Amino acid sequence: MKIFKSIKTWQVERNKTSKTIGFVPTMGALHEGHLSLIKKSKKENKITIVSIFVNPTQFNDKKDLNNYPNTLEKDIKELKKMGTDYLIMPKYSEIYADNYTYKVSEDKLSKILCGSSRKGHFDGVLTIVMKLLNIAQADKAYFGEKDYQQYVLIKKMAETFFMKTKIIGCKTIKEKDGLAKSSRNLLLTEKERKLAPNFYKILKTKKSVPEKKKSLIKLGFKIDYIEKHDDRIFGAVKLGKVRLIDNVKI
Ligand code: PAJ
Repeated sequence: MKIFKSIKTWQVERNKTSKTIGFVPTMGALHEGHLSLIKKSKKENKITIVSIFVNPTQFNDKKDLNNYPNTLEKDIKELKKMGTDYLIMPKYSEIYADNYTYKVSEDKLSKILCGSSRKGHFDGVLTIVMKLLNIAQADKAYFGEKDYQQYVLIKKMAETFFMKTKIIGCKTIKEKDGLAKSSRNLLLTEKERKLAPNFYKILKTKKSVPEKKKSLIKLGFKIDYIEKHDDRIFGAVKLGKVRLIDNVKI
């Protein structure tokens, strides 16, 4: 696996190949959710690129950014084992040479659900993903349905701006007890970790939205939102300091 920390050097390497390329952008602290995207990319493309960049512009809460888990050595070992061809780890100074004066923003879907409680979050996500897609120049890029709102926003951005990369959604990978795998699960206390699977369990019951909220609050979850949109129930809750999100097709 070749590792690139300089975008300019990567771009020279990128232009040497005409093979099909799949791209998996991440913020590291890799788990089986991320690895499932890499597996899919390997199946569908000749070359797979992964990026690791903890993107400060999408964190509305400084504490959340500072606490974001970093398991870089383990990540690199895992990526090599998976047969990843390239790892891109850009530096903030190069990727945000404009000091985040240029932004990609969306005015409708990005303002609800996670967008209403995390101000500026999706501007940060869309801006970094636009940059990364332009850097990778991949045929396909893979995103998890755990972050369904993010996936839809990115898919529509790529279509809206006539980008060459096709955005592929991938199913959510869960722990055996139903908790969606997430880098943030590492931050749960033992007690919180035991409670956490109730989030998904209650989300997928046939109860009404107010009843779901009531059951979650009773167990000790703090509700950010539980909302139904089209054929999906979306939820975000807090257990102690850790924010969990999930969604269920109904
Ligand atoms: P990150 O949270 O590292 O997630 C990287 C990708 O892995 C995202 O597409 C996410 O939806 C997917 N993923 C995470 N947990 C998953 C699970 N349990 N099952 C399936 N896929 C899962 O999402 C981001 O990073 C960032 O916002 C990013 C897109 C990289 C932009 O900075």
